[in-house]
Amino acid sequence: MSMSRNGREPLYVVRNSPIHGRGVFAARYIRAGTRIVEYTGERISNREADRRYDDTRMKRHHTFLFTLDKKTVIDGAIETGGGDASYINHSCDPNCEAIITGKKIFIHALRGIYPGTELAYDYQYERTGRNDAKLEKFYFCKCGAENCRGSIMKPAKKKRSRSRRK
Ligand SMILES: C[S@@+](CC[C@H](N)C(=O)[O-])C[C@H]1O[C@@H](n2cnc3c(N)ncnc32)[C@H](O)[C@@H]1O
Ligand SMILES: [Zn+2]
Repeated sequence: MSMSRNGREPLYVVRNSPIHGRGVFAARYIRAGTRIVEYTGERISNREADRRYDDTRMKRHHTFLFTLDKKTVIDGAIETGGGDASYINHSCDPNCEAIITGKKIFIHALRGIYPGTELAYDYQYERTGRNDAKLEKFYFCKCGAENCRGSIMKPAKKKRSRSRRK
């Protein structure tokens, strides 16, 4: 549980989520732009991340990986130094965003968030170009937003229409 900047009331709580497992919920009003929590964990290489979380061997997806840059991934699993941010679920209509500052990742409020509301950001899992249709199904989304795109992967890039190319 985090304390507010003045060290008194907690900003959020971790509890069961209707989206998936545990989630993070506002404990009091969080103003737009607030830096809520750092995404912490072990810094590992892409290769090590692939070794730890092999999609082909998992029946359901459940990862704590966050890509920091081309070379580095943060594994937010609780056993390897993950913190409360690791419990924040994905939404296609997010109230938070992840901002990379230097070598750190912070979760910020995108808008004012009322107490009891679940915090969520858009995971935007990278597409590889291979098996994307299959992966979209594997990474199905349960955020429940009206504009849910059905998958927690990054939206596919729209092909430029012929008329715009003229
Ligand atoms: C970083 S964890 C989030 C915390 C997770 N709820 C827990 O209890 O461990 C990421 C995992 O949560 C699940 N998840 C998060 N958001 C989801 C969503 N919108 N739809 C389906 N599963 C989701 C997926 O299994 C994903 O791999
Ligand atoms: Zn969704």
